[in-house]
Amino acid sequence: MVQFKDDPILPNIVELRNINQSYNNGKAQIIQDLDLLIEDKPFQGQFVALLGMSGCGKSTLLRYIAGLQRPTSGTVLIKEKPVGDDIRVNMVFQQYSSLPWMSVLDNVALGLTFKGVSRKEREAKAMEIIEWVGLKGHEKKFAQYPLLSGGQLQRVAIARSLVSNPEILLMDEPFGALDIETRQSMQDLLIDIWSKFHTTIVFVTHDINEAVYLADDIYIMKKAPSRIVEYVKVDLPLIRNIEVKKSVRFLEQVRDVEEKMLNTLQN
Ligand SMILES: Nc1ncnc2c1ncn2[C@@H]1O[C@H](COP(=O)(O)OP(=O)(O)OP(=O)(O)O)[C@@H](O)[C@H]1O
Ligand SMILES: [Mg+2]
Repeated sequence: MVQFKDDPILPNIVELRNINQSYNNGKAQIIQDLDLLIEDKPFQGQFVALLGMSGCGKSTLLRYIAGLQRPTSGTVLIKEKPVGDDIRVNMVFQQYSSLPWMSVLDNVALGLTFKGVSRKEREAKAMEIIEWVGLKGHEKKFAQYPLLSGGQLQRVAIARSLVSNPEILLMDEPFGALDIETRQSMQDLLIDIWSKFHTTIVFVTHDINEAVYLADDIYIMKKAPSRIVEYVKVDLPLIRNIEVKKSVRFLEQVRDVEEKMLNTLQN
């Protein structure tokens, strides 16, 4: 088994061991013998990016961690325990996932509905996060296009995923549909969020620049039957800003990841 951990002493926050996923009675083998260990770094969190060809199983891995799906075989542990509801894992989906018949405020407050918190407290906390993601003034609007733009709707989804202060935040190509400028400001917002909340983020993207800009650790999956075949430890300052994208170091690392991605096509 390949161990990609930085520090073997730290406990794991996410542990996928010997995962296999097949469909059609084993005729379609999507994932084979996959291992992924993400160590827990208290008071710092982790920013992990997952890259791989379309259909290799990236969203599937996130669904395992969120407890939305079980693999055909293998072990999924969150903080060394089976996936359960005692650890806060939230997900921002590939498609916009706000509820269009509810206001922005209600969408965000929904993240706390099941926690036995009063409506007043829920709304106060939701407003705090709404302000934080730059949506103050929009809270009464329905969370729908075109009342809110694509970038604003995605901020609603991010605000909802943050309101319950998750220990693990799963993000499935959250900025895929955004224009380049909005995407940059969302990336910077996410860096801010990460440095404030110290959460562990597992981020799926097809954009290598985005992965290098945001993540500390990049895992690359090969095409099906897939597993993780490459690991890149990103060597950039812990907290990044747009200037980083202009540095030679950044461009070298983008090229390195690109090469590793191309290698996976040959396997
Ligand atoms: N119920 C199912 N029956 C058969 N195949 C399935 C089923 N659910 C998922 N798959 C297959 O599992 C594979 C992995 O899907 P997944 O959504 O995880 O890919 P992905 O890496 O997230 O791709 P993308 O980058 O396009 O989002 C796909 O080939 C998909 O067709
Ligand atoms: Mg996907």
